Amino acid sequence: LFPWAQVRLPTTIMPLRYELNLHPNLTSMTCRGSVTISLQALQATWNIILHSTGHNISRVTFMSAVSSQEKQVEILEYPFHEQIAIVAPEALLEGHNYSLKIEYSANISSSYYGFYGISYTDESNEKKYFAATQFEPLAARSAFPCFDEPGFKATFIIRIIRDEQYTALSNMPKNSSVIMEDGLVQDEFSESVKMSTYLVAFIVGEMKNLSQDVNGTLVSVYAVPEKIDQVHHALETTVKLLEFYQNYFEIQYPLKKLDLVAIPDFEAGAMENWGLLTFREETLLYDNNTSSVADRKLVTKIIAHELSHQWFGNLVTMKWWNDLWLNEGFATFMEYFSLEKIFKELSSYEDFLDARFKTMKKDSLNSSHPISSSSVESSEQIEEMFDSLSYFKGASLLLMLKTFLSEDVFQHAVVFYLHNHSYASIQSDDLWNSFNEVTNKTLDVKKMMKTWTLQKGFPLVTVQRKGKELHVQQERYFLNMKPEMQPSDASYLWHIPLSYVTEGRNYSKYPLVFLLDKKSGVINLTEEVQWIKVNTNMNGYYIVHYGDDDWEALIKQLKTNPYVLSDKDRANLINNIFELAGLGKVSLRRAFDLIDYLGNETCTAPITEALFQTGLIYNLLEKLGYMDLASRVVTRVFKLLRTQIQQQTWTDEGTPSARELRSLLLEFACTHSLENCSTAAMKLFDDWMASNGTQRLMKNSLSGDIIRTQKLSFIIRTAGQHFPGHLLAWDFVKENWDKLVQKFHLGSYTMQSIVAGSTHLFSTKAHLSEVQAFFENQSEATFRLRCVQEALEVIQLNIRWMEKNLKTLTRWL
Ligand code: BES
Ligand code: ZN
Repeated sequence: LFPWAQVRLPTTIMPLRYELNLHPNLTSMTCRGSVTISLQALQATWNIILHSTGHNISRVTFMSAVSSQEKQVEILEYPFHEQIAIVAPEALLEGHNYSLKIEYSANISSSYYGFYGISYTDESNEKKYFAATQFEPLAARSAFPCFDEPGFKATFIIRIIRDEQYTALSNMPKNSSVIMEDGLVQDEFSESVKMSTYLVAFIVGEMKNLSQDVNGTLVSVYAVPEKIDQVHHALETTVKLLEFYQNYFEIQYPLKKLDLVAIPDFEAGAMENWGLLTFREETLLYDNNTSSVADRKLVTKIIAHELSHQWFGNLVTMKWWNDLWLNEGFATFMEYFSLEKIFKELSSYEDFLDARFKTMKKDSLNSSHPISSSSVESSEQIEEMFDSLSYFKGASLLLMLKTFLSEDVFQHAVVFYLHNHSYASIQSDDLWNSFNEVTNKTLDVKKMMKTWTLQKGFPLVTVQRKGKELHVQQERYFLNMKPEMQPSDASYLWHIPLSYVTEGRNYSKYPLVFLLDKKSGVINLTEEVQWIKVNTNMNGYYIVHYGDDDWEALIKQLKTNPYVLSDKDRANLINNIFELAGLGKVSLRRAFDLIDYLGNETCTAPITEALFQTGLIYNLLEKLGYMDLASRVVTRVFKLLRTQIQQQTWTDEGTPSARELRSLLLEFACTHSLENCSTAAMKLFDDWMASNGTQRLMKNSLSGDIIRTQKLSFIIRTAGQHFPGHLLAWDFVKENWDKLVQKFHLGSYTMQSIVAGSTHLFSTKAHLSEVQAFFENQSEATFRLRCVQEALEVIQLNIRWMEKNLKTLTRWL
């Protein structure tokens, strides 16, 4: 009988140190291994419970530090929880140390999870083998038996046996290389710092590198030999960012080396393994001749993200996955923050703003969840934590807090927190406690922030100006506003730092802020003003609705001189008014009236948002077959943006922001066959259309021969955006569901994006029941997935949007 029934491991035994020996065979895809774990008993017990899955365990020996006598012991297995148990030959005593040696063999995984192998063909068409790891969140246990929870930090000594032509890398620098009798080589890596199992990594393959020393840390970028020319940008970027973070956090990066590796096939975008960051080739490599501005931005921001994890996540780690947002939200926040500080020319604030818009849309659904949730246990629930809410809502809340507290106070708290909890594990409260230490009771940050992390959704703030008074009130912003509002919705309350700009008093260093911690309040403006814009630069995570006169005043101001408002504020107004129109709070007509000023718009963010919002309307209409109405929407938008479109050239010049705007405008013009879209672009577009290539692309991608499987979710999403590609995409997902789940596992980020990408543009009852029926016929765990519930909700909302707005649109356009 297995002596432990819970998913979480008991806390009676603490691993201290792992010695891991591995001998992988990359052609047969098998691996022999042994792990010796030094343990300490925190309480008296007979049982040692740890994780292991897919291992063929041949021998387990147990040793107590005192007697130092080895005893062979039996193991019990509980595959359902991926646990094994060892009943010790003697009672383990509190405070005593023991060790356990497990010898085993395993298959090298053929998915992208665990210790996995891949093959690729090099320049001269030769087949090559490569092995790498991806352990986060739950796959370290499939590579070696271990206590696979982030709270169990220990040190690691890793040895790998390899063929001579390969390079082996791990978290730490290489200690020694020994050539063995059979011509194989054994590399040993230094003992690691104290760290969580999900951050352990090793790689075996043919690689080259480029390196540079930064104050005693050797930074290297690795790629397969033929791509070594594309690593310069990454190396330069990493060096700058490493210096920036060490200064900002006031903590040195603790290892002697930092490797960044472009893996030929990789599921995630990148992974922050301590000292050994892994990337897709497209997220790390940059080719001066062929890569685009968007590529450069992507590489820069992903490096910024993974590097910041070396502090947020690696040095200070969440105790359990329910607080994943502390990892991912912070890394995402730091990514935009550091780019704004040291790569200002990339205008990454535009992407952050866009991310906030998209995240709030998702967060306003019923299927949303608090970013710090309490019930996270099953592997699907853990995988589901990796969604855009953990990343972007987390980052947005930190931005709101930073703006509210000032940059200095924020930095102090962050530095304090990192120093206090280095090499330890934390919960959300530990972060807020650090903030409260620094604000020193002038403000209860914990109380304020919990209203944002423990509740799903966000507030709609309605403001009404009455003379010099601004009346404000909050309620939950809820897309699925049913007539019979649930009573629980009325109890939602946030502590909102309300900021605002008015005519005359613009954008001073200290913005005007009012903390709204009740349902309603009154702000005294010192004078009567022409207009007021609430939520300055959209640094706050809420939507604002104005009274009729205040909307009119803002619209009038945009038409006379838009530039008294920042580009973020202009984009914010566009976003809010279209979202509110979808809800029926503002007429669609007024929303279009607001963007009438666009002819004078020169910035990327507002145009991006206007094209997004109107594009959404277009997409829904088009997919329902209302072609005439759809094209009237396009005509209207085109009239507004005609000048800007005509100004574009078919070159790639200007600031990154200008180049992105160009690609956006030309894409709009080309998609709708509007004038000035050069014949060359039309030809390329026609060729692509004529090839009817989408279905073929998806098939090839799943088989992995021609197009790497890592690209599949992207292809499905792209096909899903256009007509009739979205039908093909959905058919493909249905037909290949089981294969997709096998490859990308249920609940994962990839599966979330495949489900969303293939369903989010349906807007008929027939499609709704089809999607529902399909998922109901899968396993219950599948139907319960949040992304499935979200898909159903989005389709319902699309249907409702049509019911609400179609008539007006037809009459008025
Ligand atoms: N820790 C994640 C990688 C990850 C994602 C592991 C999902 C397990 C499940 C990493 O730090 C990350 O966030 N990567 C992002 C890229 C980032 C720039 C947003 C990714 O892979 O998309
Ligand atoms: Zn991350």
